[in-house]
Amino acid sequence: MNFATIIDKKKNKQELTSQEIIWVVNSFVNDTLKDYQMAAFNMAVWFNGMSDAELAAFTKAMINSGITYDLKGVKGPFADKHSTGGVGDKTSLIYAPLVAKFGIKVSKLSGRGLGQTGGTIDKLESCTGWTGEISEAKFKEVLNTVGVSIMSQSKDVVPADKKLYALRDVTGTVDSIPLIASSIMSKKLVVPADSIILDVKVGSGAFMKTIEAARELARTMINIGKSYGRNVSVLLTDMDKPLGRAIGNALEVKEAWDTLHGKGPADLNELCTVAAAVTLVQNKQFESLMEAETAVQEVLSAGSAAKYLEDFVTAQGGNFEMIKDFDKYFTTKYQHVILAKQAGYVSFTSAAALGYLSMHLGAGRATKEDKIDFAAGIYLNKTTGEKVEIGEPIMTLYTNIDNETQFVSDANDLVQICEKPIKGSVVIDWIH
Ligand code: URA
Repeated sequence: MNFATIIDKKKNKQELTSQEIIWVVNSFVNDTLKDYQMAAFNMAVWFNGMSDAELAAFTKAMINSGITYDLKGVKGPFADKHSTGGVGDKTSLIYAPLVAKFGIKVSKLSGRGLGQTGGTIDKLESCTGWTGEISEAKFKEVLNTVGVSIMSQSKDVVPADKKLYALRDVTGTVDSIPLIASSIMSKKLVVPADSIILDVKVGSGAFMKTIEAARELARTMINIGKSYGRNVSVLLTDMDKPLGRAIGNALEVKEAWDTLHGKGPADLNELCTVAAAVTLVQNKQFESLMEAETAVQEVLSAGSAAKYLEDFVTAQGGNFEMIKDFDKYFTTKYQHVILAKQAGYVSFTSAAALGYLSMHLGAGRATKEDKIDFAAGIYLNKTTGEKVEIGEPIMTLYTNIDNETQFVSDANDLVQICEKPIKGSVVIDWIH
């Protein structure tokens, strides 16, 4: 096959055959197709989309690029969750322990940060020693002993997505419905979970900027799931505002730990409660969402699911003491406190811009090769809708990079003080 012919077809909106799609994915995985060629292919997909048949072949080729798991020898039920990515989104770190507390094992494959958004694997790596690159035997062992295990893609597990994800991140091809749908669903379909919940973010901090696009992505992923006989539910959630107060890797793990002790911010609390409750309903542990939410709220208030986070991080080699004794382990050379210039109600011009600011502070990658600074990030002393008096701290920037003037100016540009509070629930809709 010839790449020039294939890219020409895609560019000219002609449908590719399954053989052509499989050839592209396989050639990229085995390095015969170069990054620049795959980047061109992704960009053509970004502009022209994919037909249902193309998407089915693409997703299947991604799954077949590596091994799949059977979970034999581990007693279920099994649940999986994935988010399309947002700013401050540490939901999985809270959701997984909550669901495990109810006897449902969370067997999950996660990704790294992409664009302005953070990734679960990067966050967990804040705990020195933690690794998501574990064998199938280790994955099963942790599931059996703790009830939660999170793997990252490796050269064995959906390697096509691992390579593609990194390339899309730096070539402006993240926000494409077929590329996101295949990326997420390939990672969900290699593990045989009984239920899958997808958190599709919508708003300025998300890849889907409009509710219509978010619904289309949701439908696309539900359809892929259905074709594999999977029970998929989708939450559409607001990402016009960052989620919670912490943005940046270790800061977010700490916020997850606090939330599991009933001390989380209201929006994060709401989303984690609903996501866990949906899983409990999907797995028939409760008949109604309301009953399930009440039960989850009780667990959160009692702090009785927190130990699952600590145990799972420790079981995968991580030093969880670093989160418990946060200030000892995560210090930055600079802490810039941004103060309110007037009184009123806080809002931010864009959640994405907060994500990018956090990335520039060292918490994310601008290029594939960048190393993450786990201590870097932003803490929102005041978040959207909260009242602030003149001179009070709105946010604190943590960084080891010497660029104060620029960082402070960027942060100040992001702050808006309104006369009335912006309110709204984080969960917009449940599609099931
Ligand atoms: N999350 C993923 O796993 N893949 C994407 O493409 C976007 C978000």
